[in-house]
Amino acid sequence: MEKLEKLKQELKKINAEAASVKDLPVEKRAEFGRKINAKKQEVLAKLAEAEKALIDVAAEPIDVTAWSGTNEAMPEFYSTELGSKHPLMTELNRVVEIYQMMGFEVMESRQLDDEFHMFDSLNFAKEHPARDGYDTFRTEEGLIPPAHTSTMQHRALKKYKYKLEQGEPVAVVVPGRVYRNEDVDATHEHTFYQCEGIFVSENCTLGNMLGVLREFFERYYEQKLEIRTQPGYFPFTEPSVEFMIEKPKVLGGKKGDWLEMLGCGMIHPNVLKMAGIDPNKYHGFAWGGGIDRLVLLRYGLGDIRVFESGNLNFLREFN
Ligand code: DAH
Repeated sequence: MEKLEKLKQELKKINAEAASVKDLPVEKRAEFGRKINAKKQEVLAKLAEAEKALIDVAAEPIDVTAWSGTNEAMPEFYSTELGSKHPLMTELNRVVEIYQMMGFEVMESRQLDDEFHMFDSLNFAKEHPARDGYDTFRTEEGLIPPAHTSTMQHRALKKYKYKLEQGEPVAVVVPGRVYRNEDVDATHEHTFYQCEGIFVSENCTLGNMLGVLREFFERYYEQKLEIRTQPGYFPFTEPSVEFMIEKPKVLGGKKGDWLEMLGCGMIHPNVLKMAGIDPNKYHGFAWGGGIDRLVLLRYGLGDIRVFESGNLNFLREFN
């Protein structure tokens, strides 16, 4: 608005100046006229632009039917229907409850973290290309919306390592929301949920880990499941493993259909060391996987984007 006013003032001045042409000797008038006209055209163009910008702002749609919330009665289309729990939250609770029944503590993740917890504490070497796979967004302050729940491993280990001295294992799960710099499609979202698991004791093995994971998936899908692993790579585990289940028959799975459910492995000695746990004395395993994926499969949904869509028709199906 201020800009528009300034331009109008300028135009007025130019017009006044132009009027003074009559005071000039005749031979100078043409040249003066050309100059002042060029100036005027310039300001007029700027003015048109500024006015258009104002109109564009005003043209943004306004919901004229919006209820003012004061005097009149509430219109019918402002529903008093109660909302319901998001299906992801319902399932996340189920996941956490299963782990709790298996003896795990629960720690919540966070939505902003730092470089140390995101990379260094997880044994990502500086400049290592493995960092690229977890590259997400950064705030102006350099904080990072976590790309996985593993960012909580260091904190969980530090918080619960006192148990080891009491002869008990560290057993923690960490549900949380995670963010990726992702090309979104039916199976990839930029925002989704994961659950991390961490277990440390004096003599745990990879075999124990597979037992825990199989138990979890069988309880979650309420049926016996075949499992399989294949080698993977994560800087924070050694060895690293990708864990798969055979696609349940009720979900249309045939013999030989395998679904990759999560990444896991034996916690790298450097990760234990950084949290003040002696890797010569203790061993650990950890895993992390998407919740959205679990839920998609459980309900036979075809597109991960429904979860963040805010689509009421979808949400009402889970009331
Ligand atoms: N954080 C990994 C991811 O999101 C998954 C993962 C792999 C978690 C191995 C772990 C682990 O705890 O040990 O891709």
